[in-house]
Amino acid sequence: MQAPRDLREFLEVLEERGELRRIREPLSPVLEIPAVLRRVMERRGPALLFENVKGYPGWRVAGNIFGSLERIKLALGVENLEEIGWRLVSQAWRQPPMTLGGKLRSLKEVMDLGRYTPRLVRRAAFQETVVEGEKVDVSSIPAFKSWPRDGGRYITFGQVYTVDPATGVTNIGVYRVMLRPPRELVIHWQLHKRGRHAYLEAAKRGEPLPVAVVVGSDPAAMLAGVMPVPYPLDKLLFAGVMAGRGVEVYRLPNGVPVPASSELVLEGYVEPGRLSEEGPFGDHWGYYDKPTEKFPVMTVERMWIRSNPVYVGTVVGKPVLEDAYIGKAVERIFLPVIRTLLPEVVDINMPEYGVFQGVAIVSIRKTYPGQAKKVMMALWGLGQMALTKIIIVVDEDINVHDLNQVLWAVAAHVDPQRDVVVVPGTHTDQLDPATPVPGYGSKLGIDATRKLPEEYGGKAWPEEVEPDPQVEEEAAKVLEKLGLA
Ligand SMILES: Cc1cc2nc3c(=O)[nH]c(=O)nc-3n(C[C@H](O)[C@H](O)[C@H](O)COP(=O)(O)O)c2cc1C
Repeated sequence: MQAPRDLREFLEVLEERGELRRIREPLSPVLEIPAVLRRVMERRGPALLFENVKGYPGWRVAGNIFGSLERIKLALGVENLEEIGWRLVSQAWRQPPMTLGGKLRSLKEVMDLGRYTPRLVRRAAFQETVVEGEKVDVSSIPAFKSWPRDGGRYITFGQVYTVDPATGVTNIGVYRVMLRPPRELVIHWQLHKRGRHAYLEAAKRGEPLPVAVVVGSDPAAMLAGVMPVPYPLDKLLFAGVMAGRGVEVYRLPNGVPVPASSELVLEGYVEPGRLSEEGPFGDHWGYYDKPTEKFPVMTVERMWIRSNPVYVGTVVGKPVLEDAYIGKAVERIFLPVIRTLLPEVVDINMPEYGVFQGVAIVSIRKTYPGQAKKVMMALWGLGQMALTKIIIVVDEDINVHDLNQVLWAVAAHVDPQRDVVVVPGTHTDQLDPATPVPGYGSKLGIDATRKLPEEYGGKAWPEEVEPDPQVEEEAAKVLEKLGLA
């Protein structure tokens, strides 16, 4: 299975598999399309292609394209998402080669990295229409208003491309983008995100930061924008690692490389210190942001549009919506990386209703006292895992994806005074509605592992009930005879 090269090829694949429905009813991107999309997402339904967008002739709108793990796997051309994480954590790191053959193989793997690097091309599909300068009007794109009290219209699945002025590393971040017609956008990169890092680098130099906002492109590049890739790994390179081949990119006049197959590109710059009020916006925690904050303003110099453009939007709100599946994909792709850094980690579940940054359940192979707390502290210091508010650690025999098993471990293994950790005064997700100050709150850790004697007053942990295997076999036979097996 190969990863589709652009959005249109991906939509064809989805349609062939019965994973896409076309909608011909005229619907507006203001509340109407978002409402239909949200209701289909809530029912875990298919991707939708709106072919009659009220007020936007010539445009089509796609949504819920990543709304299941199966669709995300199709977008990336893989059977198993963890495979992508393993591409990052090379074979050589997992098992040092001892033989000459092994050494040559690992050298070949390192050289293979070359096939993931972006390929610069001279022509781009979006060169078909270019709108420049005073003619630019961002309200001509079918950006959504998702919730009645949203403070404006938003590009909800835009990829924000920047190049770090200090290192030349390209970033892709899916950050919501508010329209400020006719020529401005407000970019919502949060405190801990890489786009903001590039912005601060430019501000330090007193220079404007070139930016491109892309809607609809190579599906791997679209998803790379969501991935919490450790800095300074280049996101275009990471998109190549995800797709299993380099992304074809076109360098815009402002120097920012973007996928050549993109449907819509808004090219411009952000001036240091030029901020605007952003929001309110109904976000993935299920609340309107409170309080609204100021974020950088981008001036759009050029709009590049592919002919018969397909706009892509999503809706966030109370779970479970499309972003929950994207979060699950992040969890699966990065598990191998986390397991490499923390070898005791067996599995991780960031449950859909836990809003991704809200709750993580981690199972570990425990061999020494205090290890569960060590794992919590490590995760609270690790990339975007660090934004997780509540971490529950269980033993490896507990299936982290079975919330009833986890609840049993919490109920039976936790002595709150001994096993609950509250860390005050820490960084948090900037949108967490529970903290009065955006980005500053506290953490909760629950050690639900069985305790070793050092953790249990020097005593042995109680013996768990285990059935007698022979009697169980007999009991199974009796039940089978009775038709109760
Ligand atoms: C639909 C959707 C909307 C998102 N909106 C934002 C946003 O407005 N601001 C933000 O900082 N992160 C947002 N995120 C999360 C980022 O995409 C994610 O943290 C990503 O790893 C950021 O990339 P970075 O590490 O390169 O900054 C959103 C994710 C999704 C799936």
